[in-house]
Amino acid sequence: MRQQRYLSVLFIIFFSATFIKAQEVEDEREFDYGEKSEKGPKMWGKLKKEWEACNNGEMQSPIDLSHERVRIIQKPDKRHYKLCNATVKNRGHDISLQWHGDAGSVLINGTNYPLQQAHWHSPSEHTVNGRRYDMEMHMVHLNENATNKIVVIGVLYKIGKPDRFLSKLIRNISSMIDKKDEVKNAGMIDPREIKIGSRKYYRYVGSLTVPPCTEGVIWTIKKKVRTVSRAQVKMLREAVHDYAKRNGRPLQPKNKRPIYLMAPDDTA
Ligand SMILES: *[C@@H]1O[C@H](CO)[C@@H](O)[C@H](O)[C@H]1NC(C)=O
Ligand SMILES: *[C@@H]1O[C@H](CO)[C@@H](O)[C@H](O)[C@H]1NC(C)=O
Ligand SMILES: *[C@@H]1O[C@H](CO)[C@@H](O)[C@H](O)[C@H]1NC(C)=O
Ligand SMILES: *[C@@H]1O[C@H](CO)[C@@H](O)[C@H](O)[C@H]1NC(C)=O
Ligand SMILES: [Zn+2]
Repeated sequence: MRQQRYLSVLFIIFFSATFIKAQEVEDEREFDYGEKSEKGPKMWGKLKKEWEACNNGEMQSPIDLSHERVRIIQKPDKRHYKLCNATVKNRGHDISLQWHGDAGSVLINGTNYPLQQAHWHSPSEHTVNGRRYDMEMHMVHLNENATNKIVVIGVLYKIGKPDRFLSKLIRNISSMIDKKDEVKNAGMIDPREIKIGSRKYYRYVGSLTVPPCTEGVIWTIKKKVRTVSRAQVKMLREAVHDYAKRNGRPLQPKNKRPIYLMAPDDTA
């Protein structure tokens, strides 16, 4: 009898602890990727007034890329990156690498966009002719003074050889498994070490792929698909929270937006 009472007290303690823990996680998650979740991609625009564009925007990302038009460019985008101090942050929904100071910039049609951060999605968010890849990296550039303030350069990856850049960050990333908002100093990181490859790229105007889904983002998705190992994708998925293990937003309507395959004239 005594033992039974003792056991039930233990059970109550155990269940309430589990419940409180679940509540905490629930409360700190602003959005998630569950198809049927209350905070899933279909609901993002209803969760906050500032996130409305996620549901009623007309130029949202990601989209399927198929190049109906090829545009030959005389003045391709120019990247001038620099070695710069950086931190790795577990944002809960993804792992991001944030540069502090001058990491250089990309020059697009006369406007300079300083590099801010890079982060990873798996599987890929953009698809090419209907094919979804295993991972997509986004390099986010920002110029507050420009009409289109945000430029994102995206690189697609399929499973194969490990990505050298991710290998460099492996210790930092694996040390923050499941720790939301944890920040680790990553030391001096050279953005030029991110292999983005080909000079051909897709170009269209879309949005951020996470809330607030801000529009007017100039997208550059490199045509060349690079490789990442299965273990690296697994590590990225383990590091983020359970609600974002697969952190790719579903495809959005194109709404007749032009999509270009840009090719410098010497390779066309
Ligand atoms: C890089 O940032 C860390 C943490 O903010 C700081 O301790 C360190 O001194 C910085 N290093 C350089 C070279 O600026
Ligand atoms: C480049 O900038 C010029 C002037 O700022 C503008 O007229 C032109 O449309 C821009 N080109 C592209 C491709 O955005
Ligand atoms: C934006 O304008 C301010 C004020 O003129 C300037 O200090 C800043 O460097 C500009 N930002 C960029 C990214 O050009
Ligand atoms: C993060 O990476 C840097 C550079 O490789 C290293 O010096 C630092 O010790 C790492 N931190 C952790 C917590 O792994
Ligand atoms: Zn992204």
